[in-house]
Amino acid sequence: MGPGGGLPTRPRPPPTAPDRPRPPPTAPDRAETLLAWLRLIDEAGLDVPVWCVTSRAVATGPHDTDVDAATAGVWGLGRVAALERPATWAGLIDLPPSPDETTRRRLAAVLTGAAGPEDQIAVRGNSLLGRRLARTVLAPAATSPLSGTVLITGGTGALGGHVARRIAARGTAVLVLVSRHGMEAPGAAELVCELETLGADVRVVAADAADRPAMAFTEFTDYRHRVFSVHDGMIYSMPINLGIICSYFGRALSPTEARALIRTQAPEGLDTGTLEGKAVSSIGRPLYEAFIRNYTAKQWQTDPLELPGETIGRLPVRYTFDSRFSRIPTKDFRSTATRLG
Ligand SMILES: NC(=O)c1ccc[n+]([C@@H]2O[C@H](COP(=O)([O-])OP(=O)(O)OC[C@H]3O[C@@H](n4cnc5c(N)ncnc54)[C@H](OP(=O)(O)O)[C@@H]3O)[C@@H](O)[C@H]2O)c1
Repeated sequence: MGPGGGLPTRPRPPPTAPDRPRPPPTAPDRAETLLAWLRLIDEAGLDVPVWCVTSRAVATGPHDTDVDAATAGVWGLGRVAALERPATWAGLIDLPPSPDETTRRRLAAVLTGAAGPEDQIAVRGNSLLGRRLARTVLAPAATSPLSGTVLITGGTGALGGHVARRIAARGTAVLVLVSRHGMEAPGAAELVCELETLGADVRVVAADAADRPAMAFTEFTDYRHRVFSVHDGMIYSMPINLGIICSYFGRALSPTEARALIRTQAPEGLDTGTLEGKAVSSIGRPLYEAFIRNYTAKQWQTDPLELPGETIGRLPVRYTFDSRFSRIPTKDFRSTATRLG
């Protein structure tokens, strides 16, 4: 529907199973349905202005707060559509859940352009409300400690780190910072150090927030797995990390220097299909011989030359001082597996 014109040719609705009754869209489906419609309109080459009508997507004030967060996502997508396809995007209109005759008249005024050029409108009673920025009064910052586990996606980024510092300053049981690079993210080691100094128990998890199974793990027991390795009369705390590399080579190395050193010890052209080949190509022969060969032989009762290369992926190698292993989720493994589907 466009403000000035008639109804465009109706595009095909998004495909559904033929004889199956269609359930009402679930929350995430609403934005996906709008996306499907936009794609269909593009595919059909229709050059028509598109309005999107919602209900309970926006709040208009302190007395109008009945918002469905998922429907609000439709407005999020609509604003992206407005930026990306301005020629064919008309706008967003939010109606009360039970539209009456007044609502219908107001809606008609918007669609025919009689209500002016606003493109994000809420119809409430006799009023048409346009989207505006308004000053807000900040509530006093909370200071009481949080309990349980706090998971922060993007936790190693600028804002995530800032949020983590504020939470840590309040005192909390466990902070889980999630980002795709995890401890490899720039500044992650320093951030962890700072948070731990504030008294927080910090875990940095390398995971993609779009990976739902990975996101199912949010609470952990207090159990800390520790592995120590004895080499040449010295005790090292596994897994291989910057601490082990510095101690083993007897030098204080930065992460960059450690990587450069390891690169000189990792010959090219190895068969990385076996655990031994892959391990030597990533950490070099000396560290492999000292810490991996006997360990894997004991752990899997198999010669590392007979283990597949990807098995080494189960043993972390870090260029930070983090020596912690993954923790155990509070739910038992059966329910975890169920959640993973
Ligand atoms: N900084 C501001 O002033 C500001 C203002 C308004 C809005 N924002 C928005 O707020 C968000 C954070 O801003 P920022 O300044 O903190 O950005 P940032 O420093 O780039 O941090 C983004 C964080 O998100 C992580 N990340 C990105 N994609 C991810 C994914 N798929 N799964 C898990 N982690 C992911 C990044 O780490 P990896 O790359 O390792 O995954 C990084 O830790 C952004 O969406 C930004 O647009 C920021």
